[in-house]
Amino acid sequence: MSMSATGLFISFEGIDGAGKSTHIEPLAQLLREQGQRVTLTREPGGTALAEKLRALVLNEAMDAMTEALLVFAARRDHLRQCIEPALARGEVVLCDRFTDATFAYQGSGRGFDLAVLSQLERWVQALDGPQDVRLRQPDLTFWFDLDPALAAQRLSGARLPDKFESQPIEFFRRVAQGYLARMNAAPDRVVRIDAAGSRETVWLDIQAVLRRKAWLR
Ligand code: TYD
Repeated sequence: MSMSATGLFISFEGIDGAGKSTHIEPLAQLLREQGQRVTLTREPGGTALAEKLRALVLNEAMDAMTEALLVFAARRDHLRQCIEPALARGEVVLCDRFTDATFAYQGSGRGFDLAVLSQLERWVQALDGPQDVRLRQPDLTFWFDLDPALAAQRLSGARLPDKFESQPIEFFRRVAQGYLARMNAAPDRVVRIDAAGSRETVWLDIQAVLRRKAWLR
């Protein structure tokens, strides 16, 4: 993978029902109106192969290790085929979920070994081959923080739940704890968004963060 990227890599995280997906498309539009080139993508997914892996992960029963290996395999393809090339072209990459989701869902949610996830992260995200200690990470991560009880309420009206969305609230409490831990470990990268607010408030919060960084006018 190339390390000469000049673009911006922004990920969006949170438990199911936190509302992140609502804001990604409008943000892409706003950035484009301001003259940026934007790649809008998601995980697992974002390439033909990774979308196939996504369908397996979201619909088939499997143990947590298999899940972790599949999401990292999807991530590897996604980085090589989509994210790195876009960053090298100087684009803004907006990604609906990235590795924090693996630590939160497979790690904290399903109880899979965090040290193994860290090793996979080092392999898959090494900037310049396996010897490189520098990792591709988002330049900024928006963490949509919402009480799992509220998120469950929001989800209950939505379409048919997938494998994760139909998990009990205790699962999402563990996932939320996992996000919190991951965020505390990278306070410079991660910005917490209070997702309990109205859609408009959340949208303004997102813009304010980007303006502070001068990534938005
Ligand atoms: P989500 O991002 O909520 O998309 P949609 O809005 O289409 O439902 O769904 C992706 C699901 O995949 C979500 O429940 C979290 C899960 N997931 C993992 O378990 N591990 C991962 O590494 C990633 C990226 C996602």
